[in-house]
Amino acid sequence: MAQNWTPSSWRQKPIQQLPEFPDKAALAATEAQLATFPPLVFAGEARRLKKQLASVAEGNAFLLQGGDCAESFVEHGADNIRDFFRSFLQMAVVLTYGAQLPVVKVGRIAGQFAKPRSSNVEVQGGVELPSYRGDIINGIEFSPESRIPDPERQMMAYRQSAATLNLLRAFAMGGYANLENVHKWMLGFVKDSPQGERYRKLADRISETMDFMTAIGITSENQPSLRETDFFTSHEALLLGYEEAFTRIDSTSGDWYATSGHMLWIGDRTRQLDHAHVEYFRGIKNPIGLKCGPSLQPDNLIELIDALNPANEAGRLTLICRFGHDKVAENLPKLIRAVEREGKKVVWSCDPMHGNTITLNNYKTRPFERILSEVESFFQIHRAEGTHPGGIHIEMTGKDVTECTGGARAVSAGDLQDRYHTHCDPRLNADQALELAFLLAERMKSGRDEKRMVVNG
Ligand code: TRP
Ligand code: MN
Repeated sequence: MAQNWTPSSWRQKPIQQLPEFPDKAALAATEAQLATFPPLVFAGEARRLKKQLASVAEGNAFLLQGGDCAESFVEHGADNIRDFFRSFLQMAVVLTYGAQLPVVKVGRIAGQFAKPRSSNVEVQGGVELPSYRGDIINGIEFSPESRIPDPERQMMAYRQSAATLNLLRAFAMGGYANLENVHKWMLGFVKDSPQGERYRKLADRISETMDFMTAIGITSENQPSLRETDFFTSHEALLLGYEEAFTRIDSTSGDWYATSGHMLWIGDRTRQLDHAHVEYFRGIKNPIGLKCGPSLQPDNLIELIDALNPANEAGRLTLICRFGHDKVAENLPKLIRAVEREGKKVVWSCDPMHGNTITLNNYKTRPFERILSEVESFFQIHRAEGTHPGGIHIEMTGKDVTECTGGARAVSAGDLQDRYHTHCDPRLNADQALELAFLLAERMKSGRDEKRMVVNG
């Protein structure tokens, strides 16, 4: 167990992005009550995910991580969850089939409520108010009352996470994710798009293969792996009081686990070595992520890895790189070389969203071609360094939103106003997400073919 660590030892450290709760007694009462509630996930599941991520670290699997930038209380319908899950399954199946590698499936969901902000205040029409920090902290409505941090919101976030996770587990294990349904995951508005056509062809091939397997006696009834899938949850563990309340000892191993989600990550703004977030994370046994932005220097990264994964356990740590399409070539190689030099076992994942945000017509957006360009560079760099481009981390939705520009069914700057629904950052719509999946599958496949050629001479 980590030395001198407790679930509350982070409270002795400096902290960034901490909301100012006016009513401290109410906050303490909420946290005490949350600590009595059932955990959302079980430590054994977190260990299972860690094992799958170890396989990614070794180059034998690919990580698909995605979901909303921020979940919201008003958008908590079954349709929303189902559409997200469908879109995610489509991506997963394209990647599995195209790249011929197992895909580790992790949603940014069932707990992704707290947002770090670049500014403490927001100004609209000459009025200045505290920034919105996610539905678990305050309200998005631009009024003084709504922007006051309210601990009660943590109760709602917990209950919504539990309900969302319940439905996701049902979908993943109860038949919806059965590969026999591969055609049914198609969303209405994707059907008639270029990606829809491409997807249908792939689904046809899978169906044919399944028919062949049925003929030889392998069916989804006698093969659980055909009808079920492991789906895990993740979020940025920003609000440490909430996380502490769900930090529990696992009776099987005697270790501490965060039970608010399977995998948690540290944001690029809160990864200071001697600060609260790194302190909290070093004591939990879950698989964790670390966001790596352009300001992260190689020496600092190695110190962070030593603090967060002292045993150098494969699958424990995923480095989620978010540099920007024009900065990845300058920043990624030096981090990879430092990690390789020190022999550290990590999963390399690419977040092509957060470094590519711009403002157009007063909308925060992300040009799809810049997202693709960062992904392309990520793959090229790993190929040049001889390391495994292990995963992708994206903000996406199953809805037909117009938040990121571009894509095969081009969203223009003028279209942004049509269906711009995000509570925080712009997300890929289902079409764009699928287009990205096809590109990833191609890159992974060509990477493998090249490796095979090297091996076979
Ligand atoms: N169980 C396998 C897996 O999760 C195959 C599988 C079943 C699957 N349903 C799926 C793969 C849906 C992708 C999407 O990989
Ligand atoms: Mn975001």
